[in-house]
Amino acid sequence: MNWKDEYKKKISTPERAIKDIHDGDCVVMGHAAAVPRMVPQAMADHCQDYNDVLIFHMTTLGDNPLLHPRCYGHFRHVSNFLSGNSRDTVNHLAGDFFPAYFKDVPEMIGDEIPCDVAVFQATPPNDDGYCSLGVSCDYALAAIRVAKHVIIETNEMMPFIGGENMIHISQIDHIIPCAYPLPELHSSTPSEVEAAIGRHCASLVTDGSTLQLGIGAIPNAVLQELGDKNDLGIHSEMFSDGVADLMKRGVINGRRKTLHRGKVVATFIMGTRELYDFVDGNEQIELFPVNYTNDPFIIAQNYRMISINSCLEVDFMGQVASESIGMRQFSGIGGQVDFVRGASIAREGKSIIAMPSTAAGGTISRIKPFLTPGAAVSTTRNDVNYIVTEYGIARLKGRTLQHRAEDLIRIAHPDFRPQLIEEYERRFMSKFQA
Ligand code: COA
Repeated sequence: MNWKDEYKKKISTPERAIKDIHDGDCVVMGHAAAVPRMVPQAMADHCQDYNDVLIFHMTTLGDNPLLHPRCYGHFRHVSNFLSGNSRDTVNHLAGDFFPAYFKDVPEMIGDEIPCDVAVFQATPPNDDGYCSLGVSCDYALAAIRVAKHVIIETNEMMPFIGGENMIHISQIDHIIPCAYPLPELHSSTPSEVEAAIGRHCASLVTDGSTLQLGIGAIPNAVLQELGDKNDLGIHSEMFSDGVADLMKRGVINGRRKTLHRGKVVATFIMGTRELYDFVDGNEQIELFPVNYTNDPFIIAQNYRMISINSCLEVDFMGQVASESIGMRQFSGIGGQVDFVRGASIAREGKSIIAMPSTAAGGTISRIKPFLTPGAAVSTTRNDVNYIVTEYGIARLKGRTLQHRAEDLIRIAHPDFRPQLIEEYERRFMSKFQA
């Protein structure tokens, strides 16, 4: 059948599409700014009709009606990355967190993560009947391949982005044409502390480097300090507006990349409408499934690969907790460890973990003798390399336990240094040299 006839036959509505979701099913949903909107709304409106439906999602930007209390008991959520809107629901109320590297999700789909129904967003089809998955490639292809029913909202406002980021009309069961704005992520102007961290990180970035930038306030602050660098490249899990700004200024051009030369490579994009317009049809940008972008052996093929991620706390040994505050699951591992490892294997690579020296309005030191009880170790002491705060840089790789503690105390907030030094002197039975 000609794809245009097939397209017409498959046009559906959210109400009709959700009839393919049954009690006990697992529904895998789109991620971040590409979270579908119409099907979740229809599911929430009809939540009384469902029992024990499992929903797998990661971050969902904007309001997610399926996370509202009236859906508890009808839908259960499982996720390996939490954000503000899902934290309480998944942690306590109607779901559970499962620890997993983001890169492993595509292979888990159909196995550890069952997938009866896949619900994603894409662009309307091009002349050959292909839709771009737009701003989130991630695990979408894996879910679409194994699902019994594939429901796609073809959104006119979704940017068309290339790479390995296409599905064909023949792979879809329900096509829901629509036009609604994508949720946006706005970053604030970096504070003085964040700007200082950005400057320290920038001092570690040499011309010709390929960068991965993680999630949170710090990556944005780092990008703002890179304006005087040359020939930078991007191979990242995600990126936001700061990367587009440096592309427009010619600082990021990928000219010296040793893999995907000239291209900005990621698995998802999250930012403002201005960013979504910039990436639409932009041939410099390519998205790939997360099992490719986050594979340490792929990452390592980038000469001068530098990973820059953030964390919640670090202990004297250099154990990095990035995803839980004590027992409380706060986010997820994402690609942090994969990029730390990829960067450490890469020729002239570096991995950086950057954080403000304090949290909770300056009342807590993020550098601690011990992690908060219950905290999950994200990056181990064997993998850690550079730790950066607003007070400087500690290079932990190759350092002994005692030297690590000394280096970390030197970049801790001065208000907390006396108590850290007390613990240091008790543990190492020697005087701290300032
Ligand atoms: N104890 C108590 N509270 C803490 C804390 C600690 N050790 N560390 C942070 N907090 C609080 C902060 O004060 C802040 O609270 P507030 O919003 O009320 O001010 C909140 O927790 C968030 O901390 P912050 O450091 O501002 O978060 P962020 O938005 O910059 O994100 C991470 C930082 C670490 C959560 C985020 O980078 C992450 O999830 N990383 C893991 C995944 C990853 O690195 N992926 C990379 C590939 S994309």
